Amino acid sequence: MSEITLITRDGAKLGLAAAPTETVLEAAEAAGLFLPAMCHEGSCGLCAAQVTQGDYALRGGAREAAPDGAIPLCLCMPQSALTVELPYPQSGISHHSVPTRMAEISGISQAGSGAVILTLALRPDPEFGTAADFTPGQYMEVSIPGTEIKRAYSLTNLPNWDGTLEFLIRLQPGGAFSTWLAQTARPGDMLSLRGPVGRFVLDETSPRPRVLVGGGCGFAPLLSMLRHLADFQDMQPTHLIFGANTEAELAVAAPLEDLAAQLPNLTVCCAVWHPEAGWEGFSGTAADALAQYLDGDAGQPDIYLCGPPRLMEAVMRVANERGVPAARIYSEQVQAR
Ligand SMILES: Cc1cc2nc3c(=O)[nH]c(=O)nc-3n(C[C@H](O)[C@H](O)[C@H](O)COP(=O)(O)OP(=O)(O)OC[C@H]3O[C@@H](n4cnc5c(N)ncnc54)[C@H](O)[C@@H]3O)c2cc1C
Ligand code: FES
Repeated sequence: MSEITLITRDGAKLGLAAAPTETVLEAAEAAGLFLPAMCHEGSCGLCAAQVTQGDYALRGGAREAAPDGAIPLCLCMPQSALTVELPYPQSGISHHSVPTRMAEISGISQAGSGAVILTLALRPDPEFGTAADFTPGQYMEVSIPGTEIKRAYSLTNLPNWDGTLEFLIRLQPGGAFSTWLAQTARPGDMLSLRGPVGRFVLDETSPRPRVLVGGGCGFAPLLSMLRHLADFQDMQPTHLIFGANTEAELAVAAPLEDLAAQLPNLTVCCAVWHPEAGWEGFSGTAADALAQYLDGDAGQPDIYLCGPPRLMEAVMRVANERGVPAARIYSEQVQAR
């Protein structure tokens, strides 16, 4: 058996042991520690963490570390004592297995071109009741009916007693879930979901201003966070940067008008990378908009970042060059590399 030490972002140390053919994720689950994970095959990136000490083999032998050196713990089999630094606080580790629930599709509506709002109604469950209980920023793993295919989707609404779950889904051309949603799914269909899961949540104890940066479908968890802040009449300065490729993608940002009215300290920048002639807003990527913001009078903000890998890397670089410590950046990647 190899000793494993897991060190969380907030400095907690958790010890466990793994057999030579067991992965860190399997050993953790056997010890009652459920780390963020979904695909269990090295593709979603959700379980990635830094191995800072020790030797390991990767199950299947094929996959290398991501450019930032992170290793998928679902493939990582310790071959000696191992130290693993997890990119989330201890609160990101669940001590019970995540529930699987059934829900009925109650609505599917367009949100501009290429995006859909999917609304589900949770079925009452003897153990969990009907309530939709989650923390804004978390996501659910949704299965395509009749298949083994699962995809993660962030919740965009607020926790509620009547079991309503809302998702904002950008349709990826040819994508398995996207095609099922666009062509087959109908109100009344039943879906199996696992969750809520995820550690991308607001640190409400922090006194610092916040910058929320979302690109593409990375806007979804930020919408739930903003709705939560509006619900609590939050007074902390919050700046949202929403990165879109074209103006057409801004349609999903429609709820921001109401939220801005409820949150007097919210400022919003919609950054359009390839605008049409006549666009008067910010032209450039969300990373460019963040650079401009941090170069101004931004204070020392916490940064919440959600988007595809290229945006994540560009934003991290901008923040790093401007001296924002890694501990003040909370992030979630919504697409495998
Ligand atoms: C934690 C987490 C939260 C997520 N939350 C959301 C959300 O709220 N809304 C949402 O729309 N998606 C979200 N995603 C992405 C989602 O899980 C799927 O990856 C996405 O919907 C594509 O699934 P698919 O089956 O349609 O496409 P797939 O069959 O998986 O892929 C088809 C093609 O699309 C490409 N592709 C896949 N995802 C993306 C992407 N995001 N951007 C560009 N190209 C892509 C693939 O590389 C592939 O070429 C989230 C992902 C994670 C890990
Ligand atoms: S659970 Fe490990 S990469 Fe998906």
